[in-house]
Amino acid sequence: MATSENNSVNVPNDRRDRIRWYNGDIEEESIAPARKLLEEYSNIPSDQVIAHIHAVRDKAWKIHPYPCIGRFRFLDLSISLHPLYPTVLARLSNTSTPQTLLDLGCCFGQDIRRLVADGVRGENLYGVDLRLQFLELGYELFRDKVSLRAHFLEGDVFEEDAEAEGGKELSTLDGKIDIIYAASFLHLFDWEEQVRVGMRMVRFMRGDSLVFGRQVGTTKPGPYPRRMDPSRSRYTHDPDSFQRLWDEVGEKTGTKWKVIAELKTVKGWEREVQEEHGAGESRMVLQFEVHRLG
Ligand SMILES: C[S@@+](CC[C@H](N)C(=O)[O-])C[C@H]1O[C@@H](n2cnc3c(N)ncnc32)[C@H](O)[C@@H]1O
Repeated sequence: MATSENNSVNVPNDRRDRIRWYNGDIEEESIAPARKLLEEYSNIPSDQVIAHIHAVRDKAWKIHPYPCIGRFRFLDLSISLHPLYPTVLARLSNTSTPQTLLDLGCCFGQDIRRLVADGVRGENLYGVDLRLQFLELGYELFRDKVSLRAHFLEGDVFEEDAEAEGGKELSTLDGKIDIIYAASFLHLFDWEEQVRVGMRMVRFMRGDSLVFGRQVGTTKPGPYPRRMDPSRSRYTHDPDSFQRLWDEVGEKTGTKWKVIAELKTVKGWEREVQEEHGAGESRMVLQFEVHRLG
């Protein structure tokens, strides 16, 4: 049974609630790190950066109208904003024991490019996304199809490889990953699906595993309607419910996990926090790290 959230999407592109999370303009002051990456890593001339971003973003929007695309949130390069980023960089840059990172639900793979620009060897980086077109648009955005050594796999995290059509099988990553980055990903799904994703993550990982990321969070954890299909729910966490989720993943996989998480207000997310539930300040951003204890 496929449960990926894309199954629910079958509404016209001009739906009003989609337009709410489509920004017409890029706020120049909020994209300085992305501009630097596009100019210095991708060699895009300064005066072409904005038009280039718009062109790629609009192609992606037609494929699937995620708020992170419509609102240019992919330009945050969110991995670099996480407090664990220096530790992760050090782990990935240690040449005596090279570690691997998987960006699950990577979209354009913008965070992988940030890691490469910061000196990590592309060979040790993996990106997985349901939509091959997003992965291809990533090459278009960063103009690095020839140079980038990172590995991108099209795949549905819920599908066993026997069901997967085409592409490399996700099982080729089983037991090969040290660190998983999951940004704006788990929050797409309901509790049961998140448990399944967690169990799939455990299969990907080895050794001193770490999962980290950010997603929509709340002071009132529970199931909330999905944006694209309000008849289905997605579970939104506070730090305690996120630990319970990982306790259940642990019970089901014979592993043990410790969550360190914080609810934060993040610039640029305020509108979404307000709009989504009318719950005002109850909804925030959950920044998390999940460490394997056993
Ligand atoms: C909200 S976007 C977040 C993208 C990126 N991590 C970021 O922070 O900008 C979620 C991404 O997960 C991908 N995705 C959704 N369901 C998936 C699934 N079942 N398996 C793998 N990827 C999936 C989507 O295609 C999309 O690129």
